[in-house]
Amino acid sequence: MAANKKLLILPGDGIGPEVMAEVGRVIDWFGSTRALRFEVEEDLVGGAAIDAHGVPVTDATVAKAMAADAVLLGAVGGPKWDDLPFECKPERGLLRLRKDMALYANLRPAICFAALVSASTLKPEVVAGLDIMIVRELTGGVYFGTPRGIETLPDGTRRAINTQVYTTPEIRRVARVAFELARKRRGKVCSVEKANVMESGVLWREEVQALHDAEYPDVALSHMYADNCAMQLVRNPKQFDVIVTDNLFGDLLSDEAAMLTGSLGMLPSASLGDADETGRRRALYEPVHGSAPDIAGQGIANPIACVLSFAMMLRYSLDLGAEADLVENAVRAVLDAGVRTADLAAPGEKTVSTREMGDALLAELDRQVRA
Ligand code: IPM
Ligand code: MG
Repeated sequence: MAANKKLLILPGDGIGPEVMAEVGRVIDWFGSTRALRFEVEEDLVGGAAIDAHGVPVTDATVAKAMAADAVLLGAVGGPKWDDLPFECKPERGLLRLRKDMALYANLRPAICFAALVSASTLKPEVVAGLDIMIVRELTGGVYFGTPRGIETLPDGTRRAINTQVYTTPEIRRVARVAFELARKRRGKVCSVEKANVMESGVLWREEVQALHDAEYPDVALSHMYADNCAMQLVRNPKQFDVIVTDNLFGDLLSDEAAMLTGSLGMLPSASLGDADETGRRRALYEPVHGSAPDIAGQGIANPIACVLSFAMMLRYSLDLGAEADLVENAVRAVLDAGVRTADLAAPGEKTVSTREMGDALLAELDRQVRA
């Protein structure tokens, strides 16, 4: 299996490099055990790029990301860079990559592994068997809308502006991704906005409904206000299959959904653009958790979200579904065996380091290919 695919790895800041190191070992494992070799290049993003180059991502790095078959990113940000002017912050590096690569569809699956049912702060019966997919619009809305900025008014007070803006094509292309995913899952899409108070929500609802009626009548479509969705996610999360929502609501709801699975340290994500003439789709994979400055440098972060992001890359960018299954099964088996990083452990339970979690995953991968 000669893949020869070009991967760009951007470990970033905080726990990013720590969790990415374990993905590096999984990549090496595929190279030596499965003869699945990647052309891997590593580069800087976020605070690491600011320290080296004065900008949160360089033009050269963006060019490499555009040319890669897939980009794998750790996390960006940290207190060291908090006082920088807004436009220079580490987060701008990630936002620029998303925008320049036109990664408009962000897939955030929230799956509750059986072994982690009790790690969630919710009752076991509420989260057992949970498997939902949040599709977050990623290149529009209030994150990028203009006008934006902070201005000083004549009386000396200040005014800050952000703009929530969506167009028909922006709404339809991300809704299409949600409908396509639903067809391969349980056939349900819940579209989430605030049509009761926002015109952008009214348009969102109308466009999703129109696309549904024209092309996806076989999918069961419902609409929900974002505040209600936030409540329903903790009341009865299993009512959902695919949720499609805008950039800001998706940011909030996906963090909330993460806790249903036991820990933010479990959630992977894929950010996808459109396919080009050759069928290649720009894509970036990253754990949903951030750089976690509070535990950075201690070697205790959970690498599973990053490892599962790599599995999503195998599945969505490289069409290597069997290999993705291998990684996901290894994660499941390791959790079943009771291996726990600190974020997953119950009080008093024994915990392992980032590296030891990596060791356990590699041992399980070995066991699976021998079986
Ligand atoms: C996320 C993060 C980012 C976002 C930050 C780091 C810019 O919270 O990916 O969810 O707000 O999109
Ligand atoms: Mg977020």
